[in-house]
Amino acid sequence: MAEVVIVRDAEEAGALAADAIEGLVRAKPDAVLGLATGSTPLTTWRSLARRGLDLSRVRGFALDEYVGLPREHPESYRSVILREVVDVLGLDPLLVRVPGDDGGPLTTAGRRYEDAIAAAGGVDLQILGIGRTGHIGFNEPGSSLASRTRIKTLAARTREDNARFFSSIDEVPRHCITQGLGTILEARRLVLLAFGEGKAEAVAGAVEGPVTTSCPGSVIQLHPDVLVLVDEAAASRLANADYYRYAWDHRLEVAGA
Ligand code: F6R
Repeated sequence: MAEVVIVRDAEEAGALAADAIEGLVRAKPDAVLGLATGSTPLTTWRSLARRGLDLSRVRGFALDEYVGLPREHPESYRSVILREVVDVLGLDPLLVRVPGDDGGPLTTAGRRYEDAIAAAGGVDLQILGIGRTGHIGFNEPGSSLASRTRIKTLAARTREDNARFFSSIDEVPRHCITQGLGTILEARRLVLLAFGEGKAEAVAGAVEGPVTTSCPGSVIQLHPDVLVLVDEAAASRLANADYYRYAWDHRLEVAGA
């Protein structure tokens, strides 16, 4: 089972996620981070940035990228990652990859991205948000639980949700290239964050629902090391919320763990 922590707000969640990253980087200065974009991880990056850690050797792999936007478009995930993660954390941009960023043919970009992740030794810690459709990465409902990095079609609901970053919904790309669910499951640790009532159904499906392609986030139940950080609103449909609170309040602090 995932460890579920119900926090006060996104700031507290970001601090806990940053704790996990800080612990990793102190033990392994060239750790490999899996990077989510979107609104959810912003407090994590800010909290981490405030700690003054040297992150210059950290390597990063973004979860996904739109297909069809020029690289320099301000909402391409390459631009977003550079602006919101690389610049904020002081990462070396040469050590951070986004799917399809190598200039090679798009049709085989997934394979090359998988090879690059493998050559880096795999992802140590993957930061995840979750969409209202239940997607993680851009693995929309119906995605194979064993899927690898590939081109996908965005759900209409996801395009609506992401229209806030563009001047109109018509500008939101219909396609993306995303790490697969099988790829995400190979990260050594997953940290999933979600805030707000709009995520409550997806969070309940991911944490407590059946493992099903209808809620791609439910694949986290197959992973042995998952931390889920949710605010009260996002936790509001969790059947076992009282137990998660109890377990967190009585957590066993093990020295050196
Ligand atoms: C982003 C990603 C998506 C988002 C999800 C939530 O790289 O892979 O799964 O994490 O759409 O988006 P926000 O955080 O904007 O609500």
